[in-house]
Amino acid sequence: MSPTTAALRAALAERFGDTFAVPDDLPGQEELLRIATHATHRAWTDQPIAPEVLTLLGACALSAPSKSYLLQADIVHVRDPARRQAVQALVPSMPWMASAPALLVFCGNGRRFRQIFARRGQPFVNEHLDGFFNPTVDASLVMMNFIRAAAATGLVCCPISVLRDQAQRLAEILEMPDHVFPVSGLCVGYPAQVRAINPRLSLAATWHTDRFDDAGSDALIDEFDRRFVTNKEKYAPAQATGRPASWSDEKARQYATPQRADWGRFVRARKFDLS
Ligand SMILES: Cc1cc2nc3c(=O)[nH]c(=O)nc-3n(C[C@H](O)[C@H](O)[C@H](O)COP(=O)(O)O)c2cc1C
Repeated sequence: MSPTTAALRAALAERFGDTFAVPDDLPGQEELLRIATHATHRAWTDQPIAPEVLTLLGACALSAPSKSYLLQADIVHVRDPARRQAVQALVPSMPWMASAPALLVFCGNGRRFRQIFARRGQPFVNEHLDGFFNPTVDASLVMMNFIRAAAATGLVCCPISVLRDQAQRLAEILEMPDHVFPVSGLCVGYPAQVRAINPRLSLAATWHTDRFDDAGSDALIDEFDRRFVTNKEKYAPAQATGRPASWSDEKARQYATPQRADWGRFVRARKFDLS
């Protein structure tokens, strides 16, 4: 077995607590290994990212598929120090963002198409929820493509949806017009540390064949909770003060208070009709 095949099998076993067959001669394993070992990073070295590399990654990211070829995703690179500082001030809970060599904001753009219709004097007849959902999906795919392209060059990222807690202020700082909205920020830089793989729910819970079936959900979540705790104990034993909380405990606590309940109001104020 090649070292890449072995590493891919090991990464997926760690991620899912299961073994996956990897044919030795399967092409593309270097890329699969990068995907399988994905980790979000929140600390970066101070090595800057060459501007041409950042632009190159942007171009690769924007090569993503686009719903109906409507091209409804844009990226704002927050380069100006004053604006960057203003954005940073929106998220005092995440001071580590400030040290990221680059901050991008991935946006859904429902404006371009409306402009095309206006120029033609044609009524825009797609004022409904789908008109908001499609740019959201496009922007998400572009951000994921950016993360993958960045990983191929040795860069690591952290998506920042917490920026949307202050969506209106963010839109003002970045001068986003109506029908343009932030989907997520993204910190980018060279990694300052090695990060462990965070486990995922097993495929028995998330991969369905022919029909959606979550009949065994409780047991599968319990199984994931056990792996989650074991993984935490393995990688952060020094910080362990008693047994770490399980994934469902952690998430039930995290979501026990309403989060971003005003998002709908913000989106409607951007002139999207969500009916
Ligand atoms: C859309 C999106 C938004 C996110 N927003 C934040 C954020 O605001 N702050 C943060 O620290 N991590 C954020 N993350 C990172 C997740 O917390 C991370 O992906 C998750 O904990 C799993 O860890 P992993 O990516 O290392 O496997 C975000 C991830 C996604 C996909």
